[in-house]
Amino acid sequence: MLDHLGEFKRDFFAGELTENNIGDEVRLLGWAESVRDHGGVIFINLRDKEGIIQVVFDPSKSPKEEVEKAKKVRLEYVIGVLGRVERRPAGTENPKIPTGNIEVIGQKLLILNTCDILPFPIEDDINVNEEVRLKYRYLDIRRNKMFKNLLLRHEVYQKTREYLAGHGFLEVETPMLTKSTPEGARDFLVPSRLEKGKFYALPQSPQLFKQILMVGGIERYFQIVKCFRDEDLRKDRQPEFTQIDFEMSFVDEEDVMAISEGLIHYLWKEILGIELKLPFPRITYKEAIEKYGTDKPDLRYGLELVDISDIAKEVELKVFRNVVESGGLVKSINIKGGAKLTRKEIDELTNEAINFGAKGMAWIKLENGKETSPILKFFTDEQKQKIYERLNAEDKDLLIFIADTYETTHRVLGFLRKIIAEKMNLIPQGQWKFIWVVDFPLVEWDEEENRLVALHHPFTSPKEEDLDKLDEAINNKEIALNFKSRAYDLVLNGEEIGGGSIRIHRPDIQKKIFEMLNISEEEAEEKFGFLIQALKYGAPPHGGLAFGLDRIVALMTGSDSIREVIAFPKTQKGNCPLTGAPDFVAQEQLDELGIEVEISVKEGDR
Ligand code: AMO
Ligand code: AMP
Repeated sequence: MLDHLGEFKRDFFAGELTENNIGDEVRLLGWAESVRDHGGVIFINLRDKEGIIQVVFDPSKSPKEEVEKAKKVRLEYVIGVLGRVERRPAGTENPKIPTGNIEVIGQKLLILNTCDILPFPIEDDINVNEEVRLKYRYLDIRRNKMFKNLLLRHEVYQKTREYLAGHGFLEVETPMLTKSTPEGARDFLVPSRLEKGKFYALPQSPQLFKQILMVGGIERYFQIVKCFRDEDLRKDRQPEFTQIDFEMSFVDEEDVMAISEGLIHYLWKEILGIELKLPFPRITYKEAIEKYGTDKPDLRYGLELVDISDIAKEVELKVFRNVVESGGLVKSINIKGGAKLTRKEIDELTNEAINFGAKGMAWIKLENGKETSPILKFFTDEQKQKIYERLNAEDKDLLIFIADTYETTHRVLGFLRKIIAEKMNLIPQGQWKFIWVVDFPLVEWDEEENRLVALHHPFTSPKEEDLDKLDEAINNKEIALNFKSRAYDLVLNGEEIGGGSIRIHRPDIQKKIFEMLNISEEEAEEKFGFLIQALKYGAPPHGGLAFGLDRIVALMTGSDSIREVIAFPKTQKGNCPLTGAPDFVAQEQLDELGIEVEISVKEGDR
């Protein structure tokens, strides 16, 4: 094995070769993706970052000793090849690869490195436990699919910078070792060695710094930035993730939304070649909840929620009547063509509803002119007709009903809507359904903490029209609960891809909001005194937004989890199988930090 590349220094990438190269002598470097011995003729598919080419070591065309060397090549060996490009003999072309009409007749071979037995094949469609993929991420990334995901992610960075810098935004970095930012998750803490007992918090977002940059007169800031949130993980959540974060001065909602739409339009056009129609539609928070049961509505399919409380309160069925009488709701979804669901499938759906907090799920099946249902006996013909009319019900439909509080009815039906769409294959592929959700409530009631909490974050501005009711709202939560905020979220195909707001820029208003949220002056001072202070020194009106870059890339690549578009993601449990993080640290390190670990750890675990 030679360690230097010498005469094998690459002059072509495998994937770059075309029929125009026929007759050329080329030097290639890469990995042996496949090796076949056909009666002494060795076929090697050489792969590099641009693609694959077939290399042939044939005793009738290649030096004998090189053919012998080629026989030793195994999967994923690193090799250098010097050879001549030829047209493949008629009938041996491979239309599955772009270089399938040509091949390289090997004249010299250099084996640069060997490779252990692979834990999984380097192929696009593999069926391998994700932990194993993450442990051997370097092999996983050799797969074309992963490489393409990272390539598209790279393009998103480049095009984002191009677009925002082109619109006068300045890229500024903000610190990673900082104080807590209230985005609603737990903080990751970093102990300080120099000031024992004190901790930095990793930023949940650059929120406070970007506001301070506005006070600093930057006017237009952006950053592609890591954020850290210690929360329960899901397929679209990671403890560290990336935002495209920006902030603007002297703007209102329309300006921020226009820049956001412009950026998304640019990314889709430049990277996917798709011309999106602007502006994106808008829906209020209330309408989203009442029509789709969620503030992240997926508009690729129907299954809208329909209120039948007025009819339900007249029927004999007690659960319906009682719920409406006590201020709740009865709502329904007409599952078009849903009559084909079996009794077992309907029972499964009912169980899902109950697991999600419903007390039950009533249903009516319309099939072959017949009605099947456990509840129809409680309805008069007239009531039935009214319901069918309201729901546009026809033969072959399945109507489902949930009776509960406003909150539970919508939450459960929103959830059922999604699983029905998935189960019945109602989600069309290749559609991009963007929608802005606006007019969010400013605050919501937190049962656990027994206080009002900000729906976005406590720096989000209330609507102008609510400002003069602020004093009243401090002691009257009903008034506060009716306040709307100047926040907006962008949703794509049922996923929240970005969110932001116009901020409070006046210290007097910020103070009142803290009071309303029951955050004492001392607490506010201790947690974000630096921001309140900054607001006192000529803070301009400002607002902004942050996109979840991982989610955008996952949607653009059609990946079903953001882990597919992050080079080194964590598992659902927050571990990194590649490095073994998080891990125990040496006692000396703890001593240096003045930290004593109380949790007793089983010897074997250390
Ligand atoms: P927000 O908390 O809504 O807003 O975050 C913005 C966007 O970031 C994405 N996101 C995540 N992606 C992956 N894993 C996570 N754990 C995760 N959490 C959030 C979402 C979300 O829409 N400072 C404000 C923005 C602002 O007001 O300007 C903020 O962070 O796509
Ligand atoms: P019950 O009277 O409890 O036997 O319920 C009659 C039907 O109504 C059953 O199909 C239940 O699943 C359904 N049901 C019970 N509670 C609710 C509810 N809160 N919302 C909708 N349907 C319900």
